[in-house]
Amino acid sequence: MKNFKRTTITTALPYANGPVHIGHLAGVYVPADIYARYMRMKGQEVMLIGGSDEHGVPITIKAQKESVTPQDIVDKYHNIIKKSFEEFGISFDVYSRTSSETHHKTASEFFKTLHEKGEFIEKSSEQYYDPIAKQFLADRYITGTCPHCKSEGAYGDQCESCGTSLNATDLINPKSAITGNVPELKETKHWFLPLDKYEGSLKQWILEEHKEWKPNVYGQCKSWIDNGLMPRAVTRDLNWGVPVPVEGADGKVLYVWFDAPIGYISATKEHTEDWEKYWKSEDTRLLHFIGKDNIVFHCIIFPAMLKAEGSYILPDNVPANEFLNLEGDKISTSRNWAVWLHEYLEEFPGKQDVLRYVLTANAPETKDNDFTWKDFQARNNNELVAILGNFVNRALVLTHKYFDGKVPAQNELNEFDKETLASIKEIVAEVEKALENFHFREALKQAMNLARLGNKYLADTEPWKLIKTDEDRVKTILNICLQITANLSTLIAPFLPFTAENLREFLNIKEINWEDMGENVLENEHSVNKPKLLFEKIEDSTIQQQVDKLLATKELNEANNATIEPAKDNCSFEDFSKNDIRVGTIVEAEKLAKTKKLLKLKVDTGLDTRTIISGIAEFFKPEDIIGKQVCVLVNLAPKKLKGVESQGMILMAETPTGELCFISPETMITNGSTIS
Ligand code: MF3
Ligand code: ZN
Repeated sequence: MKNFKRTTITTALPYANGPVHIGHLAGVYVPADIYARYMRMKGQEVMLIGGSDEHGVPITIKAQKESVTPQDIVDKYHNIIKKSFEEFGISFDVYSRTSSETHHKTASEFFKTLHEKGEFIEKSSEQYYDPIAKQFLADRYITGTCPHCKSEGAYGDQCESCGTSLNATDLINPKSAITGNVPELKETKHWFLPLDKYEGSLKQWILEEHKEWKPNVYGQCKSWIDNGLMPRAVTRDLNWGVPVPVEGADGKVLYVWFDAPIGYISATKEHTEDWEKYWKSEDTRLLHFIGKDNIVFHCIIFPAMLKAEGSYILPDNVPANEFLNLEGDKISTSRNWAVWLHEYLEEFPGKQDVLRYVLTANAPETKDNDFTWKDFQARNNNELVAILGNFVNRALVLTHKYFDGKVPAQNELNEFDKETLASIKEIVAEVEKALENFHFREALKQAMNLARLGNKYLADTEPWKLIKTDEDRVKTILNICLQITANLSTLIAPFLPFTAENLREFLNIKEINWEDMGENVLENEHSVNKPKLLFEKIEDSTIQQQVDKLLATKELNEANNATIEPAKDNCSFEDFSKNDIRVGTIVEAEKLAKTKKLLKLKVDTGLDTRTIISGIAEFFKPEDIIGKQVCVLVNLAPKKLKGVESQGMILMAETPTGELCFISPETMITNGSTIS
């Protein structure tokens, strides 16, 4: 690898149409943060860049649905996202947003430069236009019948029922999602970036010169290039975004995927006047941390833009991750199937590092992975508490117990001591190797091996058995344990920054330089503090609460998706009038013996008090419904159920998912009142 002076690290800008969830964190922000922290500790100059992606159609649709402006939407989520990242310890040097003035100016100038250099192709084509709303319709703004599966409500770019991707003009009976009108086709001009022109140089640059990229990234690039690159439109007919800065482009903005990556550059500009060295200097290494759905944009389109501009460096690596699922299902913002960062921070205060640990240990580096609350609990209890916390606690407690909290001096070292001490540097080297190859799971596992080493050393040497007979030996043992603890406080810092700080506080030390880790980092007689609990056990009930929360979401989603009973055939008024429906009051209720679903009710119908058997026992307790006014079909032919004659029927409403509720008069009225 070349020698670089500094590293510019970008993290995919999250769309500001929802908060950040564990999928974003595991895929992008946690690994990027670990890498940035590690590089800084190694003495590298680092610029960790983030920001909110505030343009694009989904934001305008959300705004329209909620009757607010797109700016209201992005303000709300930008603030939530920014605050939660901060609290979670993602160590951005700058976190900006693409609705900022600097960004609009930067993106606009970037486009102008390319335009003036003649890098774009201008092309007209026919697109759907809503004559009432007086605007062209983005694919997501057009709905209609899917030409493949014939289901209603397919979008102009995709049918969500059968998953087929569509062209808006394929839809049967297209409708504008804004006014419900039939859209018409109208000519519109757009600017295209001719990716085909860069095919040869991209092929050389990625497929020949970057064979070291992760297989998932390399493979996707190869398949795009092998399929042949085509010109891509970089403008859209929309009124939310960066206006296209050329004449005759009224009502057009830059395509969100054109302006968003330029957001990395704008953010750097906002942070420092000296921004160019992070973007244009050959001794800067540029890294893009992203999820797999962003690969083509960061490996092909953005590099083509940068090449077209001409003065920028290209990324040195793009360590994209696969996806994290949640309890077996794909994470989804619209279905609320996620663990939201801002909620986690509220519900698990002070436990940032537990989530950082679990998401790293389980990161979707080479394939999609699953987050489960059970695994979260197990990793906390069996790894953080039982391995890391336990070792540190024993080392410090014993030092206080035997040596008044002062680091005891080593005496003569035996082979095992020497081996143990020598392992420290070996483990550090393993962590470095893994981190430099973006193998964060492996790196964390290796870092935890230092705590495992400490536990094994303590278990094998058993100082508590020697203290009465061989105090000198115990001094050596605890000295070694404390050296390991001090090294841990540095080695885990990129992964678990909050824990590292706690450890330094327990040890009463400043940060140890990365390069200084090794056998002797604590001086004899140095006073350490009494430790507090580093991690606490997470109880089953806490996990159950989270699982219940997800179950509730699932039920709600199922209810929203459940299909409404289709309509029945018409019936005449005469037919309907045959039903004699009255208001009545339930006066007695009990479970019908030997049944699960049936209640035996006594109902005052105004005409009489009669027995009715009702199949509602799974939904209502007898004692809760006594005194309730209900609607009763009183002329239903009597019928024997489980040996008891039922003389009528209580009317119930049933939801598509089978929940029941009573139909009751709005206010108490006389029993026997008729219903028609
Ligand atoms: N907002 C995009 C997403 O969430 C990522 C944008 S990355 C950038 O998929 F490069 F465009 F900034
Ligand atoms: Zn379909």
